[in-house]
Amino acid sequence: MIIALNHKSNLGKEDFLEYIEKMYQIKTTHELIICPSFINIGQISPNKMKIGSQNVSNYEKGAHTGEINPEQLKSYGVMYSIIGHSERRQEQKETIEDIRKKIDNLKQNQITPILCVGETKEERAEKKVKEVLKREIQTAIEDQGEGIIIAYEPIWSIGTGLIPSNKEIKKTIQYIKELSPKAKVLYGGSVNEENIDILKDIEIVDGYLLGGLSLKPEKLQILLNKIN
Ligand code: PGA
Repeated sequence: MIIALNHKSNLGKEDFLEYIEKMYQIKTTHELIICPSFINIGQISPNKMKIGSQNVSNYEKGAHTGEINPEQLKSYGVMYSIIGHSERRQEQKETIEDIRKKIDNLKQNQITPILCVGETKEERAEKKVKEVLKREIQTAIEDQGEGIIIAYEPIWSIGTGLIPSNKEIKKTIQYIKELSPKAKVLYGGSVNEENIDILKDIEIVDGYLLGGLSLKPEKLQILLNKIN
């Protein structure tokens, strides 16, 4: 399984160094991908841990102040990049067009995009889940999703402790796989070392995207043991 860890905007230098030493001790056969803040990427040894970023520039190298391009990421051993997380769509006003450019930019540089998609609470209540997913996926990915990871993250589930039922997750992931048959599909939103007991029964899931839990190596180890 793929277990991607989204640190969001957390951990300064000292805390990160302490954290990464603990992460090097983690025992698992699963594919762990750590996506720290940009500022901590250079502290990770790429031969000990797979590295992802949480964003990438729409542009290539050059006059784009404050941007980090895929070539730079590659030079630090970054192999994955989270794209279109709902926090960026909302706070940074990232558009469908931006997301499309970022995915193209990554693919040209052989970095695997982890495209985040998911509905709001209101869209769920209005039974628009499929409509939202179709729009978010088809505007971002033209082909069958080869070489792409899609993370299904219902926005109302992120950081709230609320999770859809296994039946709902299974149905939604099946739909995503109909849209993008070659993509790997993760579930994300409030996954922890306790509710994994229930979630792990969903066979169609290719892995998980963890936010809060990604900062707690001991609890992460418990989760990994349970899905082993
Ligand atoms: P969470 O975050 O696990 O803290 O809900 C998931 C995410 O935003 O990727």
